[in-house]
Amino acid sequence: MIRISPSVLSADLSDLANEVDNIQKAGADMVHLDVMDGKFVPNITFGMPVIESLRKRSNMIFDVHLMIDEPEKYAMRFIEAGSDILTFHLEACREPITLLDDIRSEGVMAGISVKPMTPIEDVYQYLESCDMVLVMTVEPGYGGQKLIPETVEKVRKLKAEIQNRGLDTLIQVDGGVNSDTAPQLIDAGADILVAGSSVFGAQDRGAAINALRNAY
Ligand code: DX5
Ligand code: ZN
Repeated sequence: MIRISPSVLSADLSDLANEVDNIQKAGADMVHLDVMDGKFVPNITFGMPVIESLRKRSNMIFDVHLMIDEPEKYAMRFIEAGSDILTFHLEACREPITLLDDIRSEGVMAGISVKPMTPIEDVYQYLESCDMVLVMTVEPGYGGQKLIPETVEKVRKLKAEIQNRGLDTLIQVDGGVNSDTAPQLIDAGADILVAGSSVFGAQDRGAAINALRNAY
């Protein structure tokens, strides 16, 4: 079953709790929270105080995507704030195994992410230590971009590696996901589709979520 994680980057952030409630009722499986620091990526969004406040208003699965330098410095505070899945970037972290272990030891799902230009083989050594790999399908930083076609092959290769090793590591894709691009991503092996503009920008968000889930 394909799971859908709408990214609030395209939501009305002045009304965040209601926006999250709205996509939960529309059938989303979780909510994707993009944290940007203006260093790892050229944009700034929000941090743990926002997530902590939102936690009091929502029982949804919080799928937190850290696009920040030195994620090891802040990971525990994002966990305390209410993350259920915590993903950081391989490119931003010195000791990924230690951080993955630390996240898992708190009972939180640990994800590791790679930017479009990072070879997918670079994550293979962490597959046993993580619950999810987030394959970025656009350059991280902004919503509303077009999917980079070459990233689809990365998903396919990763899926084969996961299956060869007999693991159940989930594959998440993020960036430019809509009903046109979802079929190829699902075919390549994606388990969780992150979608910002194509869900929050839709007139009928329930229909948009269903269209993604049943795209293939
Ligand atoms: C981009 C973020 C994405 C973004 C996706 O850096 O990680 O989660 O919100 O937006 P869309 O779905 O509009 O490409
Ligand atoms: Zn994201």
